[in-house]
Amino acid sequence: MSEPDGQSTTLDNLLSESRTFPPSEAFAAQANATSELYDEANADREAFWAAQARRLHWDTEWDQVLDWSNAPFAKWFVGGKLNVAYNCVDRHVEAGHGDRVAIHWEGEPGDSRTITYAELQREVSRTANALASLGVGSGDRVAIYLPMLPEAVYAMLACARLGALHSVVFGGFSSEALRTRINDAAAKVVITCDGQYRRGKAMPLKANVDEAVAGTPSVEHVLVVKRTGTETDWNPARDQWWDDVVEGQPDTHTPEAFDAEHPLFILYTSGTTGRPKGILHTSGGYLTQAAYTHHTVFDLKPESDVYWCTADIGWVTGHTYIVYGPLANGATQVIYEGTPNAPHEGRHWEIVQKYGVTLYYTAPTTIRTFMKWGADIPARYDLSSLRLLGSVGEPINPEAWIWYREHIGGNRAPIVDTWWQTETGAIMISPLPGHTHTKPGSAQRPLPGISAKVVDETGTPVAHGSGGLLVLDQPWPSMLRGIWGDDERYRETYWSKFADKGFYFAGDGAKYDNDGDIWLLGRVDDVMNVSGHRISTTEVESALVSHPTVAEAAVVGASDPTTGQAIVAFVILRGTADDAASGEAAIKALRDHVAHEIGPIAKPRQIMVVPELPKTRSGKIMRRLLRDVAENREIGDVSTLADSSVMNLISAGLGKSS
Ligand code: WTA
Repeated sequence: MSEPDGQSTTLDNLLSESRTFPPSEAFAAQANATSELYDEANADREAFWAAQARRLHWDTEWDQVLDWSNAPFAKWFVGGKLNVAYNCVDRHVEAGHGDRVAIHWEGEPGDSRTITYAELQREVSRTANALASLGVGSGDRVAIYLPMLPEAVYAMLACARLGALHSVVFGGFSSEALRTRINDAAAKVVITCDGQYRRGKAMPLKANVDEAVAGTPSVEHVLVVKRTGTETDWNPARDQWWDDVVEGQPDTHTPEAFDAEHPLFILYTSGTTGRPKGILHTSGGYLTQAAYTHHTVFDLKPESDVYWCTADIGWVTGHTYIVYGPLANGATQVIYEGTPNAPHEGRHWEIVQKYGVTLYYTAPTTIRTFMKWGADIPARYDLSSLRLLGSVGEPINPEAWIWYREHIGGNRAPIVDTWWQTETGAIMISPLPGHTHTKPGSAQRPLPGISAKVVDETGTPVAHGSGGLLVLDQPWPSMLRGIWGDDERYRETYWSKFADKGFYFAGDGAKYDNDGDIWLLGRVDDVMNVSGHRISTTEVESALVSHPTVAEAAVVGASDPTTGQAIVAFVILRGTADDAASGEAAIKALRDHVAHEIGPIAKPRQIMVVPELPKTRSGKIMRRLLRDVAENREIGDVSTLADSSVMNLISAGLGKSS
């Protein structure tokens, strides 16, 4: 039996995941989210979003909620004026919460800083005054190339305060990547630090900036935070220590109200071509949806919760769910500088215990890493404070979901699997904690106020039980307003596939289950076609990870003369699995296991046991490189890998593969 779009129904074993987890009565009784939210949004979408916008302080109220007359260029809260930084900082102090901790900052070497909202207000004001003294004003661009330091947050909010756009470039990117991004946005100032801690070692960072700015005519100043004491070259005409410029500044600054559509930031993300896209976000709509989703999806109680999002501010998750959402809501949060295994594999759980973290948000790849390290590690810590867990960035395998629930959430904390993108600015599809009966592996429903559909190639919604493409068929407040400097690419990338319908094409494959819940199946370019059957890499990975010997798996479609594409899997075995497990018999057992879980069609042609998987710094597996291995090609560009030596390790170990 095969479905009209060719999606193989043999996949249904995993997609008809039958376990559901109703919310506990206790959680439901106190939940921020209620089913009425759906009713309100369905009754009048614009009135619903106007009500959400009232979470913020507006200096001037809008006179139109949405202007979509120039689609796909949206305007939300037309005529409204606000200051984003005032909303994230000052108004909490004015409301009497100046003593509340905004940030529990934990350095990798074990140093820590506690920053209250009153301190945050002073630091952001000083930084704003400092940037203004360097000539930064409304509409200017500032590149921020920093690790997870409080100064990164101050710098972002100082830009917002001045109406300048920040372009945060992840601290793991190369000087070349930094230069491209600085030049694309013509940034005037770069903010960096001398060095950053990575797995216990101080690594130089400013040196990359020196290399990058050798070819960036727009850069006038480089501000350098002192973090590791690493020696750096110094160009006195251009470089200044953060402390020298910021410390002496007045600690008050009067924020100016900007138009709701005033640009807030540019964040680069990779596209199908080599050139990164500068995704542009603006102020009022972005902050509205950031605040609303953070309140509703994470059930935030600002007086009592301690929230921790483990993302890096170099990614959109760090923008929306470390800086703007939590601070707009007056949350207390943990920011951790380092890696999860520095200095030991229990570091995250030590931090949860130390601060009594209640809400924890991370990525499936991190969860699978924890699985690989073993459940005995979290078991050594008191995780009883945790009351909600989140997941973002890729489809979460049901087995990882269950492990997360059991070993981190004590079978108690609801899990929210949140689907969204750099382009969407904020969460779009997610269970509502306390309301939704959650299902391992499914992001389930568009949030109240959001409309998403799974459609076929013609844009027609598919039937329940069928697969297709994910589209967003209504504009939303935090949607991207374009690609910096390239309106045509914006139309082409997101709006051309379903131009006649006016749908935003997300680039993800998805499926409705029989209840109408949405399952994300990975990027459409990761969907394999084997003998005319479409099989998602994610589903084969889920099947592999559900085997007790497997810690992590990545699957690619390799071209095959007979079947079109063939499935090639790369697996990391669990720490406890002994060496013999990587032998022929174990590989046969895994192939049989996949056949058993999904069907013979999904049996990998080849399974290679590897010590590591190639990942970008945001934790996404780079399947392109694995495809090169699977197709016996020379391995392509590895510059965006978090650890570029991984491909050598994989190639060197392939003698052992079957
Ligand atoms: C994927 C990260 C399944 C998806 C916020 C999307 C997910 C891309 C999920 C965006 C999820 C993100 N389930 N897939 N819960 N969340 N994705 O721009 O393919 O780094 O298109 O934004 O990640 O990645 P980005």
